[in-house]
Amino acid sequence: MWLPCGGTSNYIVTHFRRRLFKAYFRDLGRRRCNVAAFMPEAAGFDGVSDRSALQEFSVSNSESFWAAVARQRLSWIRPFHTVQDCDLSRGEIKWFVGGQLNVSVNCLDRHVHTCPERVALIWERDESGSEVKVTYRELLEMTCRLGNLLRRHGVKRGDCVTIYMPTCPLAVASMLACARIGAAHNVVFAGFSAEALAERIRDAQSGTVITVNQGVRGGKVTELKKTVDTAVQSCPAVQQVFVAMRTENPVAMTARDVEDVVCEPAAMDSEDVLFLLYTSGSTGKPKGLVHTQAGYLLYAALTHRYVFSYHDGDVFGCVADIGWITGHSYSVYGPLANGGTTVLFESTPIYPDPGRYWEMVQRLKINQFYGAPTAIRLLLKYGDEWVHKYDRSTLKTLGSVGEPINTEAWEWYHRVVGDGRCPVVDTWWQTETGGICISPRPSDADAEIVPGMAMRPFFSIKPTLMDTEGKVLTSNDVSGALCIAQPWPGMARTIHNNHQRFIETYCRPHPGYFFTGDGAYRSKEGYYQITGRLDDVINVSGHRIGTAEIEDVLVRTSLSPGVYAFVVLKNDVEVQGAALCQQLNNMVSKKIAKYACPDFIQFVQRLPKTRSGKIMRRVLRKVVERDLDGVGDLSTLDDPTAVQEIIQGHGDLCGKQP
Ligand code: WTA
Repeated sequence: MWLPCGGTSNYIVTHFRRRLFKAYFRDLGRRRCNVAAFMPEAAGFDGVSDRSALQEFSVSNSESFWAAVARQRLSWIRPFHTVQDCDLSRGEIKWFVGGQLNVSVNCLDRHVHTCPERVALIWERDESGSEVKVTYRELLEMTCRLGNLLRRHGVKRGDCVTIYMPTCPLAVASMLACARIGAAHNVVFAGFSAEALAERIRDAQSGTVITVNQGVRGGKVTELKKTVDTAVQSCPAVQQVFVAMRTENPVAMTARDVEDVVCEPAAMDSEDVLFLLYTSGSTGKPKGLVHTQAGYLLYAALTHRYVFSYHDGDVFGCVADIGWITGHSYSVYGPLANGGTTVLFESTPIYPDPGRYWEMVQRLKINQFYGAPTAIRLLLKYGDEWVHKYDRSTLKTLGSVGEPINTEAWEWYHRVVGDGRCPVVDTWWQTETGGICISPRPSDADAEIVPGMAMRPFFSIKPTLMDTEGKVLTSNDVSGALCIAQPWPGMARTIHNNHQRFIETYCRPHPGYFFTGDGAYRSKEGYYQITGRLDDVINVSGHRIGTAEIEDVLVRTSLSPGVYAFVVLKNDVEVQGAALCQQLNNMVSKKIAKYACPDFIQFVQRLPKTRSGKIMRRVLRKVVERDLDGVGDLSTLDDPTAVQEIIQGHGDLCGKQP
């Protein structure tokens, strides 16, 4: 039977349309709702209905994105009037101009108002099983007492306080106390020698030092106070040293020392200095990178929340020392700004045994674990039993940072530690970037993660690869120098006392871009993989150091090497062999730190150099890696026999030294 055309077909069409519309809107509603549940600010971003749209929005409307996030996630004393005022080519970076806030209020007071008894810190002391929990109320109290003490002793807004302490609640309170009274902090890793400490105190023009009597790590006591005593002898500006007691042993006190560190928060401008942190570059002199208040805190908080999918009530376990940027951003500022519970790890991965991390995960019920590939590789060698012994069912996300994670270590971390359940996020960033810039998450829960790849840029980050001529590489499946094409709030603002060096290192190589110093590969799918440094910065036990810094020390003993060190002896050097190796190692450990000591020292007649006199480090690296096929083009080499000698010497050495 024919139906009357008009009416019925109309009916069918409208009915169909309505159903379609309803379904469409329901879906749109759900997607909108999803993205807003994921990030509430997204509700106010035009046209953002899913996560990939959110990512795109954050890159192409970075100002609107960060303005909304800053209003939502920070407590301001005075709102900002300008979101950003940046000129990458001149190294002028300002975010949230006109705004005032206090970082310690953002990390403490506002959580004390809502949940005073929530645990802020779990101090995982070196002595396993003796953890100490500190609530937000207690941490605020500790911070205020310390802030008052510093103020009473004349520490003012704009001063710089050096903190030479192991990872512990008092160190965190010291950082926050500085933030509270408007002083900048300069945390120096407690493994650094007296001379390295002194150099950093002097460069930072710091008049106050906070330390502990002794440190304990891996069951060994280190004399931190004594190291400070030695350091301050060559730091005339230091007027006072505050000493807390980490162990029961009394230490000798001098007139300079004020015992027992056990407030009105200062209104700080967004761009006032929050801290300096020294890191290695490709020259012998470490650089004091400067991070400021609002932008840094916001970036640390947002990356902590989204890269690790951190939720209220989770226990976050970052095992980095507070002496490094990872400790700053992900043991302290990110988690505390988010009102989280964060673990302060004082020990080592193998103390008292190689099960330490996983026993801790079980005991503290850690939900996100963040560590370094060097530790993962070490633990992998001890076997799976040390992991299987403990319940790791609380783990939700595993993170890796500091250097490329090789596939074997990645797979082991994923399969054995995470039981194949937890996403492993390989996070790429630097002291300079303030927080994570490239990492597999955030992305959809089922989005693929490729082992050993940092993969996806974080919100508003625009990675760019450059070829050797400085041209932007636009296609995929290419390698180049990794730059970031637009400013983001977490980036360092300058190098303390040396803005020129900041511009030359990061802004001049590729004008208009931030140059990271790393090389990267962009895959066919558009994912990023970091291939390593393009300069002479290396990673030793997860710590970043410039070959030039070690060379600088060794040169002072009339020698010249690289932490497989190639040493060319001057003709008049009389000590030889093992005795000389010992002497060199002692020097490095005294001037920098024990970890920087070379594992192998090979004495050579000469180094492979180009005709223009530049050492071909690539060749040395390949010899050490026994990848002679990978040595590559030697046509620019001044004297190819130098390489033969080195290969021969390397062969002789292997087997002799451990
Ligand atoms: C390297 C540590 C590969 C890189 C947060 C960078 C990485 C330097 C990764 C910064 C990673 C850091 N994959 N390489 N996931 N993360 N690096 O300043 O060479 O101590 O430039 O900051 O470590 O070291 P920094």
